[in-house]
Amino acid sequence: MSGGPILVFDSGVGGLSVVEAIRGRLPGKALTYACDNAMLPYGLREDDWLVGRILRVCEAAVKASRCVTLVVACNTASTLALECLRERLSIPVVGTVPAIKPAAALSHSGHFGLLATSATVSRPYTLGLIEAFAVDCRVTRVAADALVREAERWLAGETPDLEVIGRALAPLWEDPALDTVVLGCTHFPLLRDFLAAAAPREIQWIDSSDAIARRTAQVASGVATREAPGESLVTALDPRLIAGLARFGFAPPRLLALG
Ligand code: DGL
Repeated sequence: MSGGPILVFDSGVGGLSVVEAIRGRLPGKALTYACDNAMLPYGLREDDWLVGRILRVCEAAVKASRCVTLVVACNTASTLALECLRERLSIPVVGTVPAIKPAAALSHSGHFGLLATSATVSRPYTLGLIEAFAVDCRVTRVAADALVREAERWLAGETPDLEVIGRALAPLWEDPALDTVVLGCTHFPLLRDFLAAAAPREIQWIDSSDAIARRTAQVASGVATREAPGESLVTALDPRLIAGLARFGFAPPRLLALG
């Protein structure tokens, strides 16, 4: 297959943090954005239900967009359903998982945090990454589902609630030696300035978006050239998404028909 866009998928607007990085690597290439905003947040849902839902939405979005590559720009979805998606789809599928390996290399003190959804911080996949790449480090895992909503609000043009952000980050600051935080949810880099302002000291904030963009550039072939704003697909029409998607170069969303 050739001549289609790269499809970037997330539960909500978080995948737009990955879109920016892909645009940096592949300027001029066509991107389509798809999100399952009707079922947001994914991080608090049951695994069995979530696998079926992710397959259903991604299959429908791949078909509707005629994409040549799927980027699952969601840690919660990738740490659960990447294998199933790869088995089911005939195009390359790039996943997003927490940047544990770079954090272990960059932390000077050997104590870093993982800020992600409830699902991601406790998944066997995530624990396996820690076991494989950070066995000599201390890793403080913090579930911060409330930040998903704050990122959605920020993209809709509202000011995030600084108290909510402060409370979500508080468990990270108990040990003054913690010097690095992995943003293990794609929504969180959208709030990076607010997170940095809420931190009591200088912190290295690490996310996976550049690595995903690099991988996407390696596997995506036959990508169409960008000629107009990219298409965007949603599972619930919501006018609050229009301006935020436009800021990232996407046309007003249309409703994705689920098979
Ligand atoms: N952006 C998603 C992630 O990277 C999760 C947000 C949600 O809970 O729906 O994990």
